[in-house]
Amino acid sequence: MSERAEHPTPSSAALIDGKAFAARVREEVKTMAQDFAASHGRQPGLAVVLVGSDAASQVYVRTKVRQAGEAGIASFPHLLDADTTQAQLLALIESLNADDRVDGILVQLPLPAGLDESAVIEAIDPGKDVDGFHPINVGRLSAGQPSLVPCTPLGCLLLLQDRLGDLSGLKAVVVGRSNIVGKPMGQLLLNANCTVTTVHSRSRNLAEECRQADILVVAVGRPGIIGADYIKPGATVLDVGINRVVDDAGNARLVGDVDFAAASQVAGALTPVPGGIGPMTVACLLRNTLTAARLRSQAG
Ligand code: GUN
Repeated sequence: MSERAEHPTPSSAALIDGKAFAARVREEVKTMAQDFAASHGRQPGLAVVLVGSDAASQVYVRTKVRQAGEAGIASFPHLLDADTTQAQLLALIESLNADDRVDGILVQLPLPAGLDESAVIEAIDPGKDVDGFHPINVGRLSAGQPSLVPCTPLGCLLLLQDRLGDLSGLKAVVVGRSNIVGKPMGQLLLNANCTVTTVHSRSRNLAEECRQADILVVAVGRPGIIGADYIKPGATVLDVGINRVVDDAGNARLVGDVDFAAASQVAGALTPVPGGIGPMTVACLLRNTLTAARLRSQAG
């Protein structure tokens, strides 16, 4: 037995540097984008659609457009007024579906009240659905077929494989069941041969379930709800939450769903917020755009 185990002292989890890993992914995308441009006479193209003026969404969209440009991907931003109608939005998507310069279409969610999110997602050509939200891509992922995969869970999977190698046989617990993160994350981990449990707000014995996990992925949007007693010693913990909190002194800061200080005493490795999963989401959007561009050029 190691000295540490005989004399348990607070240990410190390794920090998973999503920011550095995302920079590596973007470099790979840049090389692939150059190759694509050399053989097709045009850059891969990404259309980004934002409806309304939600401040957080505006920041995300600006980041996506800037990083696309840096990676050699042409971006086509469409910033629409909050009073855009469903018919106008669907007409834009139809025109982007038909535009050969556009390989990927991302409609930033959430949409303003009154717009039908499902109908908008279903209007996107599944081959250009770089979010992986279209039911055809959701179905392909669940059937274990090649598909465009939602960016945030894809980023989580790449980080896990980089850190742990083959994930076969590991016990993974996903906290949260959203269409954007929780559900596709469970599918990806299952396809990677993990034993997967998904827990959510109605689950019983949440802490006990989480404590079984070699891999714990948390995506619920509740600041700090995952404490030390939810974590198996040595587990790899990915914190997808990005919550803006204001402290007693009135200072705003971003925190995750995991109580970072407490978790880092127990986990083997842990992502920080910010600088963990967030940068991977955008990097994977660019990666998906290259995947879509290549698949479209093979299909055409
Ligand atoms: N809003 C929050 N996350 C996402 C995402 O991954 N894609 C889109 N389109 N909107 C989001």
